[in-house]
Amino acid sequence: MYEERIKTLIAQMTINEKAGQLQQCGPSLVGAFEVSFEELLDMMFDGRISQEEFGRLMSTAEQDFHEEDLKAGLIGSYNGIDNAATANRLQKIAVEETRLGIPLLFGYDVIHGFRTITPIPLAESCAWDEELWEKTAEMAAKEATAAGIHMTFAPMVDVAKDARWGRISEGAGEDTYLNERYGAVKVAGFQGEDLTKKNAMIACVKHFAAYGAAEAGRDYNRVDMSLQKLYEEYLPPYEACIKAGARAIMAAFNDINGVPCTVNASLLTDILRKSWGFTGVTVSDANAVAECVNHGIVPDRRSAAKEALNAGMNIDMTSNVYSENLAELIECGEVEEDVLDQAVANVLRLKYELGLFDYPYRTDEKREERETLCKEYRGLAREAAAKSMVLLKNVGILPLKKGTRLGIVGELANAKGEMTGAWAIGADVEACISLVDACRIQNVPYTYGAGYEEMMVNKEEIKKIAAESDVLIAAIGEHKEESGEAASRADISLPEYQVTMLNYMLETGKPVVAVLFNGRPLAIPEAAEQIPAILEAWHPGTEAGNALLDILFGAVNPSGKLTTTFPYTTGQCPMYYAHINTGRPGGKSKFTSKYLDTPLEPVYPFGYGLSYTNYEYSDLRIIKKKDAARITVQVQNAGRIDGEEIVQCYVQDVSAKRVRPVKKLIAFKKREIKAGETVSVEFTVPFDKLGYFNDEMQYVVEPGEFKFYVGKNSEECLAESIVL
Ligand code: BGC
Repeated sequence: MYEERIKTLIAQMTINEKAGQLQQCGPSLVGAFEVSFEELLDMMFDGRISQEEFGRLMSTAEQDFHEEDLKAGLIGSYNGIDNAATANRLQKIAVEETRLGIPLLFGYDVIHGFRTITPIPLAESCAWDEELWEKTAEMAAKEATAAGIHMTFAPMVDVAKDARWGRISEGAGEDTYLNERYGAVKVAGFQGEDLTKKNAMIACVKHFAAYGAAEAGRDYNRVDMSLQKLYEEYLPPYEACIKAGARAIMAAFNDINGVPCTVNASLLTDILRKSWGFTGVTVSDANAVAECVNHGIVPDRRSAAKEALNAGMNIDMTSNVYSENLAELIECGEVEEDVLDQAVANVLRLKYELGLFDYPYRTDEKREERETLCKEYRGLAREAAAKSMVLLKNVGILPLKKGTRLGIVGELANAKGEMTGAWAIGADVEACISLVDACRIQNVPYTYGAGYEEMMVNKEEIKKIAAESDVLIAAIGEHKEESGEAASRADISLPEYQVTMLNYMLETGKPVVAVLFNGRPLAIPEAAEQIPAILEAWHPGTEAGNALLDILFGAVNPSGKLTTTFPYTTGQCPMYYAHINTGRPGGKSKFTSKYLDTPLEPVYPFGYGLSYTNYEYSDLRIIKKKDAARITVQVQNAGRIDGEEIVQCYVQDVSAKRVRPVKKLIAFKKREIKAGETVSVEFTVPFDKLGYFNDEMQYVVEPGEFKFYVGKNSEECLAESIVL
């Protein structure tokens, strides 16, 4: 549509201006505190500065936007601009003071909300709620575009089966299909139907590809896997996002089978463009083009630029390797100008699609103020947080009766800043509501005490709190920096002092409810055994405390279900439900596939979650149609409270020429079911979804028995087979 205009523009550009369009720049702080945006992020993530300080520095410290380069047409986009005034000021320079007046593109990590923070993606995926996913993405787009942002580096759809990997918090968990749905819906929510609308934000899907399969769960680590596994389990979510219209995609830091994704032509060109028909922009991860030297795949930055561009990497995020080297590489003929032109065309196309050439300023400070943290957004954040929580255990304690006096123990209950999760750099931390804040605001009687730090766990204090309370709430889990990027853990159990704290609480004889704040599955076998009620709250976002009270006191009936397996112990990782059977599946006899020192089963399986009512499944029927299986099941709300049930449908190819998973999610539906009501839930599963990649990498649907499982989680299902 814009191809003629793009061609005409490119014909007027110098090589340096072209390279400039491919250069994404991060602002640096100057003055007393001289660091780049990436270093500042690094400081926040490793705890040298708090998120509050990060926010303060970003809004108050003097920043260098490399304006000389901008005026010379050497910067095409920025990462990290977070307010309308700065965005418009820089845009004005680009449009009015550069030779060709090409507008800038502003990217930012709007991962689960911008200022108003919704639950971390792993949490929100537990809502299995497409409508909610879309609404929260739309809200994030409204708030972020009001601050001048054009593109978010989201959704992350890296299938993650290893709880050690900290970035499991940023995606929809371990399942391929769930990540497909989550990703596609997020893309729709961020981008809307028309990119020229001022509320629309480009979705940059990440991290292409298979970043979640990092060996040993260690961030940035290598990925080595069969092509069949890559195509069946890891690629589909990225493809689903591209099919949903995502206009940008970020390459992953890792290598796949020896080739870093940043310079991986088979991913960036063959799969992405030739097979999937992608016409948008590819973006490197931060500094990743330069890091190809560390990978040992190129001798220097110059070769990194050459390999990356030739492989199909369009935008170099902040490593400056393109601006330093592309002109010379073209002169020497090591990179064809045509390749450069194609990359530039992809960037310009996005700018045209956003309408930036006609309307470069899509917001102003008034709109920004109006659309930041408004009441409506907070309401949605609260709803999303409550829907994302997963009730893991409840032996007759929850919901609490009105007037119950709470004895709250653990610093996480009183830590606003911890509620946002790791990737919420735009968060307004002061606006967050902790559990203690919520009790105060809502006049819930409570006593709060005891700290998060080991030395502050005080038995006497816990006894005192218990004496003044009806129910004890233990706030345990992880600090937000314990999950997310560069936050892999080799031990995912609770720290010793939290176990001690729980024991002291149990010793008081008062009922104990454990509320878990965490960004990954934790290994909690003892707690699961001893604590009578456990609520997985994750890092719930701005409205954390209010949403928690909604669940604890029963204003909202919990409906979330896990999208990630909770192992017994770290040694079982990676642990996931869709595993294959060995020739010796775990059993009583010694020579079967199992561990000597830990059970084979998880503590909580994929798909698991309780509510204040209970659901009964019956009458599973499968009708074989021409091209699809029609599956129906009756689900009864057998309790006395209305609720929402997530009905899950799995399939197993019972015998095939390649080993197949014991079960694989193929469809799900979330249904409101009134107390006492029975609903009929129907799924249609096309037969062409039942295939796999054979030895020759052809997708085949093999005739034979297919067993369908329908139920409330991956373990408790009704089952029925058909033969194809
Ligand atoms: C992360 C990306 C993120 C980028 C830009 C990187 O460190 O891996 O997920 O989008 O930074 O801030």
